[in-house]
Amino acid sequence: MAWVGIFGLSEPGEERDMREEEFIVTPWKVEGKVDYNKLVEKFGTEIISDELLERLIRDAGESSHLLRRRIFFSHRDLDKVLDDWEAGRGFFLYTGRGPSGPMHIGHIIPFYFTKWLQDRFKVNTYIQLTDDEKYLEEGRGLTLEETRKWAKENALDIAAVGFDPDRTFIFQDTEYIRNMYPLALKVARKINFSWVRAVFGFDAQTNIGMSFYPAIQIIPSLFEKRRCLIPCAIDQDPYWRIQRDISESLGFHKAAAIHSKFLPPLMGPTGKMSASDPESAIYLHEGKEDIRRKIWKAYSGGQPTLELHRKLGGNPEIDVAYQWLFYFFEPDDGKLGKIEEDYRSGKLLTGELKLILTEKVLKFLEEHQSRREEARELINLYMYDGELAREMWKKIHE
Ligand code: TRP
Repeated sequence: MAWVGIFGLSEPGEERDMREEEFIVTPWKVEGKVDYNKLVEKFGTEIISDELLERLIRDAGESSHLLRRRIFFSHRDLDKVLDDWEAGRGFFLYTGRGPSGPMHIGHIIPFYFTKWLQDRFKVNTYIQLTDDEKYLEEGRGLTLEETRKWAKENALDIAAVGFDPDRTFIFQDTEYIRNMYPLALKVARKINFSWVRAVFGFDAQTNIGMSFYPAIQIIPSLFEKRRCLIPCAIDQDPYWRIQRDISESLGFHKAAAIHSKFLPPLMGPTGKMSASDPESAIYLHEGKEDIRRKIWKAYSGGQPTLELHRKLGGNPEIDVAYQWLFYFFEPDDGKLGKIEEDYRSGKLLTGELKLILTEKVLKFLEEHQSRREEARELINLYMYDGELAREMWKKIHE
């Protein structure tokens, strides 16, 4: 496809195997070993500096391992968000999910980070479920009924994260479109085809729903006349680039964003987990046996024999179990440091490291799953009956 050449390092239309140093990151596809510094350069975003990190943590009143460890590593205008916050002008949060199937651990981490931001700053949070987008993406082969159903299912997982019901609105595009459509028209009129073709790599065969869709993903960043901060994985940034070029001419702020890396897939430290390979990820609904089995099979940085491992030690950089602990599951830096040291020295074995992760994942998912059951009642507050939800639905009659 043409867009291979846009963000990847190969030329458009070039059909050949990727070299090891090549990678692709677009909103629809992540492949290869991602070089995050190159990506920041290509996308024109900024690495979060040490000073900015300190300022964010100071304003938040608490640190987060996702920030300290640079899982959320890049941004646009985060400094301006903090200017607004410090001056009492406030800001709001927006994030989303493309409901193409069940959610896995990599999908839910940005939501836990978004909740952390909401708790620390006490701000409104809008969560878009793009059942339209996932239907339009032809490669997925999903029916509209399916993506609408997945939106409802995914909403339960998102509600299980524990957002503040008074300050959170979760909505599904095919339902809420009536409220968004007038503004979507104003946005769409400012974007021409050659622009989205260049940004997203559309071609003459791309269905026209796809060329309109970027307007829809931009709308929630305009829900308030304050600055919007978007926590998301970095592959979503192309949308915000367009948003930032048109929002001010419509009387809104340029969106700010804070971008995450991708949780490494179980079979190796490259790329992103993919729905087409269920063994690459752990799903939020999975049971104990599957979780144990998948982690046991995960790519390891250990040595092939016990003897060699004791002698040479393991390599945490490529070890998926270690990476998952680093990325999310062991927030305590002291404990993580000890694990790293013991693994490198050969004192800690691959199997032992995997068991440490397994215990963490089992506990996390058990808790998530029980909160998901409780969320069946809460979901109405988030989507229809809560304070913010009602306020947003009222906008129909404005
Ligand atoms: N396009 C995103 C996806 O496929 C869903 C999405 C919509 C989103 N709005 C967002 C993600 C805002 C992050 C932030 O998953």
